[in-house]
Amino acid sequence: MSPALKHVATQAFDAAFGELPQCWVQAPGRVNLIGEHTDYNDGFVLPCAINFGTLIAASARPDALVRVVAADYGAEQDQFRLDEPILPLADGAWPNYVRGVVKYLLEHGLPLRGADLALTGDVPQGAGLSSSASLEVAVTQAFKTLQGFDDLSPTDMALISQRAENRFVGCNCGIMDQLVSARGETGSALLIDCRSHETRAVPMPPNVAVMIVHSRVRRGLVGSEYNTRRQQCEAAARHYGVKALRDLSLARLEAEAGDLDATVLRRARHIVTENQRTVDAAAALTAGDLQRMGLLMAASHVSMRDDFEITHPAVDQLVDILQSAIGPAGGARMTGGGFGGCVVALLPLAQVAAVRLAVASHYRAPTGEPGTVYVCQASAGAGPLV
Ligand code: GLA
Repeated sequence: MSPALKHVATQAFDAAFGELPQCWVQAPGRVNLIGEHTDYNDGFVLPCAINFGTLIAASARPDALVRVVAADYGAEQDQFRLDEPILPLADGAWPNYVRGVVKYLLEHGLPLRGADLALTGDVPQGAGLSSSASLEVAVTQAFKTLQGFDDLSPTDMALISQRAENRFVGCNCGIMDQLVSARGETGSALLIDCRSHETRAVPMPPNVAVMIVHSRVRRGLVGSEYNTRRQQCEAAARHYGVKALRDLSLARLEAEAGDLDATVLRRARHIVTENQRTVDAAAALTAGDLQRMGLLMAASHVSMRDDFEITHPAVDQLVDILQSAIGPAGGARMTGGGFGGCVVALLPLAQVAAVRLAVASHYRAPTGEPGTVYVCQASAGAGPLV
């Protein structure tokens, strides 16, 4: 995360509340290397936390008031009380992420006191890099640090944040984004079993760059196709009589398709094959086999394009450009919820300059904008800053 963010949050805090904050906390955004839409099917995902995130300057208050200022939204402010019902504002309003997390921290049984919070961040918004999960997890971290809630585990922080997103913000997301924001590890991706919440750190091979390219195709998650995909997956699980699609093999998917709607069948096929690819990718990355990883990423993209139908023609084109520029030494695929947003690529560090050039020369969004390239580091999860 840029060191300038601490200064931005401190200044916003001082301007809004007339004093300096007691502490600073951060929580990262994430990029998913592979395992898309598998999280809410109890499956596997392989994201890493990135060095872009949310930073909060915070102080405890002696009363039940929570005051929040958003440095990146023209120093807009919100305030609410812990001893009155906490209600959402209009759809899409940034304070809902804070209000929702505080409501579910209280419901978790924590004896919250009031706080003053100044928020800032550098996760590109609407890009599929989990700016919202990073905000939610940063808010839980702020209360944890201010009040010394040592028993509040990173997994609890993630679950509380997910509840806020599901029930307060209204997006029926899985657990991936919040869990990796809370539990990310420097230099590693995390293989997450989204049923048990067990994680295994998968070290990034040396000399490999994690490149993210924003396609500049805008995406909307709340109220979009996301919830429809989730319903289709649940319908498929009911058809096969399994708890979740994680429990279905490819052989059974084909043998017992019966009269299942053809679209729903394709959705289920993406999940079943993607789940296997994710487990295979963790093994490939562990072995430092970038070539195999590249093939799995390519297959994942095709499956998202043809079976799950969550890509976009411009994003498909961007993936083609990256794959051709990278060759067999790595791979590229769309990352995140879909319908635009970002592409992730893994490639040897030595190829970064040439791949940047290929994107600059060959890619334009439908609006004419070029793609934006970020080379990032696999980073640690949420925590206090000194
Ligand atoms: C969004 C959701 C996640 C996950 C991805 C798709 O990021 O928040 O829970 O479902 O989409 O893999």
